[in-house]
Amino acid sequence: MDIYSLSGRFLRLLEAERAHSLTIRALSLGLGPHYAPPARPALRQQLFGLDFPNPIGLAAGFDKNAQVPDAMLRTGFGFVETGTVTPRAQPGNPRPRIFRLPEDDAVINRLGFNNRGLAFYKARLLKRRNRPGIVGANIGANKDSDNRIADYFTAFEALNGCADYFTVNVSSPNTPGLRGLQEPEMLRELLHGLSTIRARLPHKPPILLKIAPDLDRDGRQEVAHVARDSAIDGLIVSNTTIGGRKSLKSPHRGEQGGLSGKPLFTLSTEVLSDMYRLTEGELPLIGVGGVGSGNDAYRKIRAGASLVQLYTAMTYEGPALIPAILDTLAALLERDGFANIAEAVGADHNR
Ligand SMILES: Cc1cc2nc3c(=O)[nH]c(=O)nc-3n(C[C@H](O)[C@H](O)[C@H](O)COP(=O)(O)O)c2cc1C
Repeated sequence: MDIYSLSGRFLRLLEAERAHSLTIRALSLGLGPHYAPPARPALRQQLFGLDFPNPIGLAAGFDKNAQVPDAMLRTGFGFVETGTVTPRAQPGNPRPRIFRLPEDDAVINRLGFNNRGLAFYKARLLKRRNRPGIVGANIGANKDSDNRIADYFTAFEALNGCADYFTVNVSSPNTPGLRGLQEPEMLRELLHGLSTIRARLPHKPPILLKIAPDLDRDGRQEVAHVARDSAIDGLIVSNTTIGGRKSLKSPHRGEQGGLSGKPLFTLSTEVLSDMYRLTEGELPLIGVGGVGSGNDAYRKIRAGASLVQLYTAMTYEGPALIPAILDTLAALLERDGFANIAEAVGADHNR
């Protein structure tokens, strides 16, 4: 047994949020694994003007304050999304607010955008600015803000030049009313505003929109329409779900918050597939939700994802999961005769 599986066992004995804080502290001290991935041309991809060494990324919420992006890149991730950051620091909801559901390979969280605010976050990103590796910034609004749309503008502008891409998070279920920004009028104002700001900024980073898996048919159609109409670069599908409780076995199944991990896989992949169809494959998609194996990642890609992210499975499996996913993914592409990821994207729609 190596040090990481040993420390993983120890961490699982602790309360979830305490284990997470300790992990961030250990990683910031350089105690994480160092995985030097073999060169895999089939997993490489150019998207949004960025060169992704592989399509597996760390989803937002693990490194909310941008403290350990480089440590996470060293575990083998092809890109790391930091945040969600809000303009002002805020404490989030009362603890406990993260619940492990090991019987279901799932987590329920109701953190509520706890973070140290833009100034701290920006300083962390500036410190690593010239290092290699793709790091995204996921931005959100303060809970007590009287103009939430303006919060996104503030964060986007303040972080210009500090991140390789931006994710506009309008899909967290833990800030009351936030998901209302997915309504077409508000969404249009938000996305058009961001592209207008981008047009006059020195750096013109890609802008991605992260959506909820709980959007109904009409909601998905409206989001697809507004996304294609505005000049954004892609969609992240999806955030956690407020549904999905019926199939759960764990005693924590009734907790309020967003459900992530295995029980989210089918729903988030359905929405992903729908968004691919609704955008006619013209808008790059990042598939997130319940990915715990190379096979899961491959299913997201075939459903329409150009890139894939994960979070929950890593908390159960540890960092060795990432190289294992990359190995399987490369083998599956070869098995099915795809020369690279791009050829496999959306393959299930062409059958
Ligand atoms: C503890 C926790 C905190 C999260 N925080 C955020 C966040 O701050 N911003 C965000 O966009 N998504 C957040 N997420 C959602 C993840 O980025 C991801 O969309 C979701 O968990 C589904 O992926 P998974 O099943 O691989 O975990 C969080 C998820 C978890 C489990």
